[in-house]
Amino acid sequence: MGPITKKSSTVASEKSLFGSGLTNAKAPRHPSVLAVSSRGFDKQLTPPSQTNSKSKLIAEYIERFQLVTKGGLFIDGFAAPQSRSHPEAWTARRVLELEPKRLRRFWLCELDPDGVEQLRALKQVHNRQPRFRHVSVMEGDFNQTVDGILASRRITPTAATFAFLDQRNMECHWETVRKLAHFKRRKIEVMYFLGTSWSMRSLKSASRPEKFQEIEKWWGRPDWQSLIEAQQSSLPLIFAERFTKELGYGYVNIYPILLNENGTKVAFHLIHASDHPQAPVLMTRAYRKVCGEIANSPADNQMDLLSWEQT
Ligand SMILES: C[S@@+](CC[C@H](N)C(=O)[O-])C[C@H]1O[C@@H](n2cnc3c(N)ncnc32)[C@H](O)[C@@H]1O
Repeated sequence: MGPITKKSSTVASEKSLFGSGLTNAKAPRHPSVLAVSSRGFDKQLTPPSQTNSKSKLIAEYIERFQLVTKGGLFIDGFAAPQSRSHPEAWTARRVLELEPKRLRRFWLCELDPDGVEQLRALKQVHNRQPRFRHVSVMEGDFNQTVDGILASRRITPTAATFAFLDQRNMECHWETVRKLAHFKRRKIEVMYFLGTSWSMRSLKSASRPEKFQEIEKWWGRPDWQSLIEAQQSSLPLIFAERFTKELGYGYVNIYPILLNENGTKVAFHLIHASDHPQAPVLMTRAYRKVCGEIANSPADNQMDLLSWEQT
């Protein structure tokens, strides 16, 4: 376990993930949004566990934090539902449906045209509801649309701003993360999802020049091949350390999301980077509620024994 926060560090280990259930999930109130799903919502299949717990975790966290900040802005860089036929486990939707409605502005970004259609339907339901709320759907590569968002002058020095970076594998360029972190008007809080095992697999199997380029943009430096030598379990720590040392975030924590309920395999890691001292406290509470006390995660009581000051 490496040093990744000002106060404590984290890492995944194995234990039942869904011991305590969150359920902020609201009953579907907007059939028009559900109907956009091409495979149909009426099949009543359950969404994949990791997708469900990820969206619950983010919604739980924002619900808590918006009470502290009394408002805020939400940039969702990869916003269409992960499981297109499970809009009930869709983070953007869960956050938009939170009560009370405190967040003022949403930018929902998406590359895939079908996903963009789903976002437009979601916007129809929530834009100007209430009147102060604005929802923008940004079609295209988020690594480019991010520039328009940052240039829009909507992110004022006093606005709490959250960037949710839920890439599938390696779509989010490190340069994009850097732009968010170094945005001059206010440091933007980042929730970055790292598909740890998929990323490691991609690193090891890369053989084409196009893939090399993609990886280099994701990692943000030409020395990405050094990652292949690293243990898979240390990949989240390596990223977390970059958020701390290179991007200058004061509080960085890693939260493992398990693949299956009662399973042991980690599907991906959330790297949460903020400068607000309440951010790790509230995220850890949200994580405990959604995922339980996963050993060696920030929600694990034993972590106090393991934590150490950043050097
Ligand atoms: C993991 S899914 C997002 C899941 C979603 N956040 C949720 O809560 O269900 C990743 C999404 O990013 C989209 N995507 C892939 N590359 C992208 C890019 N460069 N810019 C914007 N969106 C992209 C995919 O089409 C997909 O809808």
